[in-house]
Amino acid sequence: MRRFENKRILIGVTGGIAAYKVCDLIRMLYNEGASEVVTMMTPSAKGFIAPLTLETLSKSFVYQNNDENTVDGIPAHIALAQDMDVLVIVPASANTIAKMAHGMADNIVTTTAITFTDKPIVIVPAMNTRMWDNPLVQKNLRVLKSLENISIVPPEIGDLACGEFGEGKLASLDTIMLYIYQAIHPQRRLYRDKRVVVTAGGTREPIDSVRCITNRSSGKMGVAIADELFAMGADVLLLHTLPGLDRPYRIIRLETVEELARYTKRNFKEADGLVMAAAVSDFQLAKSQKSKTPGKIKKSDTFTLDLVKTEDILSQIGPKKKEHQFVVGFAAEYNHVLMHAREKLERKELDMIVANDISRSDIGFGSDFNEVTILFRDKERFDLPKAEKYIIARQLLVHLYQKFLAKREEEPEGEEEALESHTSE
Ligand code: CTP
Repeated sequence: MRRFENKRILIGVTGGIAAYKVCDLIRMLYNEGASEVVTMMTPSAKGFIAPLTLETLSKSFVYQNNDENTVDGIPAHIALAQDMDVLVIVPASANTIAKMAHGMADNIVTTTAITFTDKPIVIVPAMNTRMWDNPLVQKNLRVLKSLENISIVPPEIGDLACGEFGEGKLASLDTIMLYIYQAIHPQRRLYRDKRVVVTAGGTREPIDSVRCITNRSSGKMGVAIADELFAMGADVLLLHTLPGLDRPYRIIRLETVEELARYTKRNFKEADGLVMAAAVSDFQLAKSQKSKTPGKIKKSDTFTLDLVKTEDILSQIGPKKKEHQFVVGFAAEYNHVLMHAREKLERKELDMIVANDISRSDIGFGSDFNEVTILFRDKERFDLPKAEKYIIARQLLVHLYQKFLAKREEEPEGEEEALESHTSE
């Protein structure tokens, strides 16, 4: 993914054992296209990680002192605030959080932070559980969170370096990356206050205790949509079937069509929208064939499975949706792609359908790329050319917003321009 293309990212490292994880973060940012990653350190950070390490990985000067450095004659903290797109304080110690909450500026990190007023700051705390639970730390975080340009990445619960177990562990690098992406996202407020359910991945219908009926969906498109929605400010619930998924928004892992139907229907009631990207199995074992006891069917020369149709989740939800709710479906087609997609759009009473040509091996199933056509009920359609799935996800969410949500509410300030520049991409 190239989510950080042309972005200049400033990292402020403070004193904490998790400081070594910044090394991987720098790598990940460059791998995702960042044009420049610049680091700066508080005096105590130097006890945890050597400036040379950061300098080598970031390929850039490491700022360490408040008053010694200038860039083209401008004090470093002013120049950095002018030049860089986002400031990430990672790991953020209780000490630095307290100083920032009180507007203190006693080292290069806190001084630059106080100068970073019109650009996003992402704070990634990491500390011992009791420090984290201290009401003073929480109060300071609330103060920082109340500022429009600051976001806080919640720490995880886990084994801490001090030997204790609890909340305070640095968030996973994937989570930190997603928060930084959110901070620089051109439409970061587009779906603010919207609660959206997204489904992703192929369902599994058990045959016996060992085998199942499933499909080749990787779930990447659905996860990309959930990530984009998160980055656009939505309250996301992802219902998925994938192993090892770790996300900062709510996720529920499930397997069967029955489970997916239950959770989708239940959560859609309170939601503003549903994006049904899951590849739902159309068949399940007939009741008559389901074994009452767990076990493995023994092999034989031939074996016939008696299958029946599963319930069609979207067909049940589409016609019942309320005025303010949107429902988006996907159509995975081998031929006559648009004809079948339009038929599904009408029959399932959807607001929008995303037509996927699954006959091509360079896009769709398993690939990081996709090329889709989106269709609306009023016959309007948009062809989204081949691009990484996160770009496709972003584009289709912008179209969805313009078609349904923009009309119902005043556009959030400053988003109009971002929308125009985006859709012409
Ligand atoms: N879908 C669903 N419940 C099912 C099957 C599909 O909600 N039992 C949803 C999918 O998540 C997708 C849309 O319906 O958003 C279309 O799915 P697709 O598999 O393309 O179409 P089907 O309706 O299953 O028809 P067919 O397999 O015959 O093409």
